[in-house]
Amino acid sequence: MNVGQLILNALGLRNDTRVPYPARHDHRAEPHLVPIGRDIEAGWTNYWDMRRQPHALIAGTSNGGKTILQYAILRHWVDSGAFARIAVCDPKMVDFLAAKHLPGVGLYVTLPEIAAAVRGFRNASDQRYERTFAAGRRNYIDEIILNEGRLGLLVDEIQDVTLKEAGLTKGSEDWEINQLRQQISTDLRLAGSKGRASGAHLALATQHPSVDVVTTGIKAVTEFRCYFRTDETAANMVLHAPAAASLPDIPGRALVGPRGILRETQVFLTEPDEFDTWAASR
Ligand SMILES: Nc1ncnc2c1ncn2[C@@H]1O[C@H](COP(=O)(O)OP(=O)(O)OP(=O)(O)O)[C@@H](O)[C@H]1O
Ligand SMILES: [Mg+2]
Repeated sequence: MNVGQLILNALGLRNDTRVPYPARHDHRAEPHLVPIGRDIEAGWTNYWDMRRQPHALIAGTSNGGKTILQYAILRHWVDSGAFARIAVCDPKMVDFLAAKHLPGVGLYVTLPEIAAAVRGFRNASDQRYERTFAAGRRNYIDEIILNEGRLGLLVDEIQDVTLKEAGLTKGSEDWEINQLRQQISTDLRLAGSKGRASGAHLALATQHPSVDVVTTGIKAVTEFRCYFRTDETAANMVLHAPAAASLPDIPGRALVGPRGILRETQVFLTEPDEFDTWAASR
């Protein structure tokens, strides 16, 4: 912590360990900018600019604040009015129950449901990409986004729906499960590769940042990064962000930004019951 922060904290003007979600933010003013949190050093708000980096990767050990960050993303996606459809995939099943009744939002919790949602997202993204390609105009996608809205896919705990088990025999029930997981991995990667030209956005989260979850393919498409504290192996060998291992042990503290320009950030806090209240009022 620098001297300026110490003084501000002493005066009670800044509390960098809990920054409430800015309830009065005008989400419609700049719909492509997702407010993420407060920059620890500079004090300004750090945003995810979906025009520059269509997809985001959220990684970090348990209780870091990944789900709370996804609440922030979802709040913006919904309140920006810029999204035609949003799919929320929550294999943990309980964290996003309130999202179920949000307008334009689908909640998917079982593996087959999630596989179908991811496939649907990929198809919609492909279709937009093909239309843009056929139109032969680079800015055609801006017209599609304006007229038809953006598409969003949020997946919490991707390892639960992508990580295959080894050594299964063909035809067994678990083998079928592996097939679905393989399909989801492929669909995420391919949907991700079309993002910029389709107005479709992925936000993928995992508490298990290992090479078999955060694969080269996933890393290549998710150019916006939110890294909570991880162990040194994950920070150095998988995420290539050594500083992620030395983040202070404060919930909601993360390295946030486009690949290579990560800023220490205190993510805006939406407590779970606040999320429920927000969702119920939409
Ligand atoms: N931005 C934040 N500011 C302050 N406190 C936070 C913040 N984010 C999370 N917390 C606290 O940490 C708790 C755990 O956060 P969260 O559920 O988002 O963790 P997680 O990374 O999703 O964990 P898991 O991997 O187990 O799902 C929250 O209930 C909240 O009390
Ligand atoms: Mg979580």
